[in-house]
Amino acid sequence: MHEYRMAIIGFGNVGQGLAQILAERSELIRKEFGLGVRIVAVSDVKLGSIYQPQGFDPAVLLAYVGARGTLAEVPAKVRGWDSLRTIRETESDVVVELSPTDLKTGEPAVGHIRAALESGKHVLTTNKGPIALQYRALKKIAEAHGVEIGVEGTVMSGTPALRMGMEYLKGAGIVRIQGIINGTTNYILTRMQDGKPYIEALAEAQAKGYAEADPIGDVEGYDAAGKLVILANVLMDASIGLIDVEREGITGLMREDICEAEEGGDVWKLIAGLERKPDGVKARVRPERLPRSHPLASVRGATNAITYTTELLGDVTLIGPGAGRLETGYAILCDLLAIDRRKV
Ligand code: HSE
Repeated sequence: MHEYRMAIIGFGNVGQGLAQILAERSELIRKEFGLGVRIVAVSDVKLGSIYQPQGFDPAVLLAYVGARGTLAEVPAKVRGWDSLRTIRETESDVVVELSPTDLKTGEPAVGHIRAALESGKHVLTTNKGPIALQYRALKKIAEAHGVEIGVEGTVMSGTPALRMGMEYLKGAGIVRIQGIINGTTNYILTRMQDGKPYIEALAEAQAKGYAEADPIGDVEGYDAAGKLVILANVLMDASIGLIDVEREGITGLMREDICEAEEGGDVWKLIAGLERKPDGVKARVRPERLPRSHPLASVRGATNAITYTTELLGDVTLIGPGAGRLETGYAILCDLLAIDRRKV
């Protein structure tokens, strides 16, 4: 039985989703996997910061956030430490980095992850910014310190797209990846197919919580491009950045385009594609008109999907959620279980 002491940096939707999973499933996780998780610290710029070496009851953390909108009143040994102090000075084995995503600088997450790895702590993150911008550098630091960095939730939330690629398909020779990896745009395109105007469909996606804080990131394809960079660097041993992705969003697509495709039996989807070429990996995000028989054509709403084309297996497609509180929170558990399996 291994017990992990966890420090959580950023306690928004995903952090709270993780706490809910731990509150509801700790017993099962202990029984099934022989793994215990103790949340010893939480640091959040809005909700406050607390540290308790014996650990907190995750249900109590959620109750305080729900009822009082703060962690400041949770009984704790230490309060008020900032994120870096929490990372460095708490007795923890795993740092869960969930600060807000910034695809331009990757901060503050890059600094948090570096500090954690340099302190010899595993890092689990669903934060796309630092991984799209610095995956290789961070992985090197992790290796130098004998710890791991789990990034499953950066693409398709807890749907194990990266792990399936890394652990089960890399050996089959991945030559091409094609995916619907932004839920907001797939939701908008689906609603437009149903007859809704673009603006209303976008407002619905925002209300349902799929969209980024600034939805330009979704509709202009930046979010998908960031995820594509992660897929390329993690699964195709590439070393590309956002600048290397040819990108076009969905804002140029008109309702007439969608109707016309529909009449021809086709659908428009925002497709993120990677292809291995003799001179490197080619990365592209753009709307594509797909025939209904295409495996990605029937993926509706905010659902994500990815097709790996491999030398040994041909096409393998995975369909599942790409966002959501519990769905993304689960990615952290999925990574922790993987790290723990390697210890045995
Ligand atoms: N805005 C993202 C999406 C959230 O719509 O897919 C998950 O990364």
